[in-house]
Amino acid sequence: MTTSPIGSDTLRIDGPRKVTGLAQYTSDFNFPGMLYAVPVEAIIANGKLVALDTAAAEKMPGVRAIFHRANLGKIFRSTPAPGFDRVCLERRPPFEDDVIRYYGQYIALAVADTFEAAKAAADAVRATYSKEKPNVESRLEAGDDPDVVFTGYGPVPRLQSHRGDAAAAFDSAPVKLDETYVTPAETHNPLELHSSTAMWDGERLTLYDSTQGVVNMRSVLAQMFGLPKENVRVIAKFLGSGFGGKLYPWTHVPLAVAAARQLGKPVKLVVSRKMMFQTVGHRARTQQRIRLGATHEGKLLSLQHDYVYHLSMIDHYHEDCGEATPFHYSVPNLRVHFGRARRNIGATADMRGPGAVPGLYATESAMNEMAERLKIDPVRFRLFNEPKIDESNKLPFSSRHYVECLNLGAEKFDWSKRTPAVGSMKQDGLTLGWGMAGAAWIAGRFAAEANMQLRDDGSVRIACATQDIGTGTYTILAQLASQKTGVPVDKIEVDLGDSALPDGPISGGSLATSSVIPAVFKAADQAITSLMIVAVSTPGSHFLGHKPEDLAFEGGHIFVKAEGVAKGVAFGDVLRQANARLVTGSGSSEQTAFAPNPKFSMHSFGCHFVEVTWQPEIARLRVSRVVTVMDAGHILNPLTGRNQIQGAVVMGIGMALFEETTYDPQNGAPINSNLADYIMTVNADAPPIDVHFLDYPDKEINELGARGIGEIGLAGIAAAITDAVHHATGVRVRELPVKIEDILAAPLKT
Ligand code: MOS
Repeated sequence: MTTSPIGSDTLRIDGPRKVTGLAQYTSDFNFPGMLYAVPVEAIIANGKLVALDTAAAEKMPGVRAIFHRANLGKIFRSTPAPGFDRVCLERRPPFEDDVIRYYGQYIALAVADTFEAAKAAADAVRATYSKEKPNVESRLEAGDDPDVVFTGYGPVPRLQSHRGDAAAAFDSAPVKLDETYVTPAETHNPLELHSSTAMWDGERLTLYDSTQGVVNMRSVLAQMFGLPKENVRVIAKFLGSGFGGKLYPWTHVPLAVAAARQLGKPVKLVVSRKMMFQTVGHRARTQQRIRLGATHEGKLLSLQHDYVYHLSMIDHYHEDCGEATPFHYSVPNLRVHFGRARRNIGATADMRGPGAVPGLYATESAMNEMAERLKIDPVRFRLFNEPKIDESNKLPFSSRHYVECLNLGAEKFDWSKRTPAVGSMKQDGLTLGWGMAGAAWIAGRFAAEANMQLRDDGSVRIACATQDIGTGTYTILAQLASQKTGVPVDKIEVDLGDSALPDGPISGGSLATSSVIPAVFKAADQAITSLMIVAVSTPGSHFLGHKPEDLAFEGGHIFVKAEGVAKGVAFGDVLRQANARLVTGSGSSEQTAFAPNPKFSMHSFGCHFVEVTWQPEIARLRVSRVVTVMDAGHILNPLTGRNQIQGAVVMGIGMALFEETTYDPQNGAPINSNLADYIMTVNADAPPIDVHFLDYPDKEINELGARGIGEIGLAGIAAAITDAVHHATGVRVRELPVKIEDILAAPLKT
């Protein structure tokens, strides 16, 4: 009998395929007669395309076509739908009009026999523009928007949350804080570039795509090309991550599909690293004013969170910085309000912990600054303002252990040794800075379906059209199937990343794991019931004459309850005796995330404790140690779970110290659009990261009590780092990332 793989460190079942190169990523797939497409990018950010000269490019060797508005054929707009279906953040199809709204917008597409020929042809296309000065202003002021704005999630009131009288309570508060925090535009830089290979067979379309959502991609493409969705199949077997940038289709996808339709050949389009900064989404720049009022004892009286984010000229992505603000702390008077600033930039998009991550940077930084003003330890300040319920909607939390996170983190970090004075802690000739912050992220489920097969050779197959973006979904599905069938994880075949399989969730919102659990378990139960019917009805079977309800299933064996599992028969034997290759079961689970009338407030919580070292003599700042505690429900696989949190912390070091997409005010181009100039955390920047999970099952979410952990690790970490920087240097940086010139001004004394 195997022990349960749930909750134990389980190696990735796809690991060997990845490290031996057998795993096929989207652009690894090649097809007979396949052509290569390279888009032509606009080199202005505001204006019109007046003329396009493709003559020279068309004559180049190996070139099959130069497509543009006049010859690409029809691409329809996709339309929004409820329930996270047909999501597409840039709804204007490529080439729909001649208006250029951001730098790098595709204006033509070169298709050739080789990638090199296509690239040369794309470079040879000449465009004439009428140009206007682009608006890429980094200072954000709310534009003229109605009180309720349309966003990708439907209508959203700009007064997002309010209770009491926040302004009056602020005015009369004994201790006040009024500061503005800025987070820059950030670009998703997964290792794997976006890639689409499209091929048509009559009216049927197959697309290999590096997508975090094959089912949604299918729905969007069916609309864009006017097809029944059964005619569209989207495949994504392995992804080199996505961070939200690959959740939904971008404009290169319909370009590849349309080109394949026109030429009657498979067409592969791989987006370049430079294009990744222009046409496939980015995290919005935000500017967030936080006003806090408190008593001298440290009780919060008022919290006002007013934020503005930038967005493209015609899209609607909502960077929900106020997501965690209304419930994170107890405060009787609160107001969260937002505005939007339109810019000549590509569409903004979800990026790991969208909204909450920039939002918590601001609110948690303000909490730290307020604690300093109050001369109260920042952990104690938070404990003192712990809410009993979600005060924004008066609902109980399904499972909240934030206090324990803070206490455990402080203990593991040795926080009680912190001396609060700036520059007061030294070690080996270095100045230490210690900072901390809290974290929160949404919890819930998307709709999901799954199918399970139990087979006569004792093997199991589990199928679901979700994806593994590198987070471990292959392994989680195998663990879930193993739990129900008793078959070891390495004997379970997991099929995902194909829209032909039962509909699965996007790999997004950190919700994939919580979403698939009920569906997989129901599928397993149905397959086992089917097996029992086979067992009692097969001539010569040990179980002949019993009723299915007399039987039980455990550890891969079927047995008569009254006889006990010792007299059980392996399910493969039962099937072989019946000359049945397999039994199957299907299961589904409904969406609970973003439900209109929830019974509980469901979130994950956590905190980070950070140490930086500072050498004022050479202005050298390093993050030297991180302790992170997460309350994310039951952790199904602590090994892949820790990996995710560590990865998020590494990304958070980048958010705090390095990452920023900068726009050229002259032509509107993201100017650091490459991996040399867009600085990210590398191994040498990554300190020891000590991750702890509280592991309280949240039974409101699913039967295993598992929430999700992809994104929460990035929440709060930047606030913890900037607070540690202040503790070491005396400099409060309120505009990310912390730059060397910000802290060069730090006094050498201390
Ligand atoms: Mo995550 S930003 O939902 O991929």
